[in-house]
Amino acid sequence: MVKILAFAGSTRTGSVNGKLLDALVPLVEAEGAEVTRVDLREYEMPLYNGDIEAERGVPESARRLKALMIAHDGMLIASPEYNGSITPLLKNTLDWCSRKEEGDPGPLAAYADKTAAIVSISAGVFGGIRGLVPLRLLLSNLGMLVLPVQVAVGGAAEAFDEDGTLRNKGTETLARSMARSLVRYGRA
Ligand SMILES: Cc1cc2nc3c(=O)[nH]c(=O)nc-3n(C[C@H](O)[C@H](O)[C@H](O)COP(=O)(O)O)c2cc1C
Repeated sequence: MVKILAFAGSTRTGSVNGKLLDALVPLVEAEGAEVTRVDLREYEMPLYNGDIEAERGVPESARRLKALMIAHDGMLIASPEYNGSITPLLKNTLDWCSRKEEGDPGPLAAYADKTAAIVSISAGVFGGIRGLVPLRLLLSNLGMLVLPVQVAVGGAAEAFDEDGTLRNKGTETLARSMARSLVRYGRA
């Protein structure tokens, strides 16, 4: 079975990107994947600094997350944009998990030849879509295949029904198509 790791680039209480992830996980499962949803609060890491790595090595939290990434075929990432770019939390997390350690199956083992689906949501009309551009570039640089289909949801305050599903059915259809591709490429 295809295994997908899902996490959000915001750990804020009530994060709308976390909510978006919760809405999309069942769509990926419906396509036949096993999804592991993690909260980056459980993988807190210091801001990357080469001295920390030289003195203490890769933090245990990063090693745990990296092991999970290696054990999965792909990722579903929901993240807000900060000033039109990737959040520091997400960048720092991806950076730490890119560090090579003894025992890794290969370079960039957490990412290489894996598939990523990227989504965002924000209060504004553009839905954080500008942040998906640098995120796409970063994940590609790490060796991931980033799906051409992406989802950016504007108007976060009105985006969800009471049951947490996406209110806009056109957006949900797009998300289903992205979920299908994620599982298909993950399987390949
Ligand atoms: C430093 C900073 C910069 C932000 N820049 C943007 C932005 O460029 N575009 C945008 O739509 N929202 C921006 N926001 C608002 C975020 O979308 C919002 O605070 C929140 O992070 C939404 O995601 P969350 O609920 O998942 O945490 C910014 C927020 C912060 C703290």
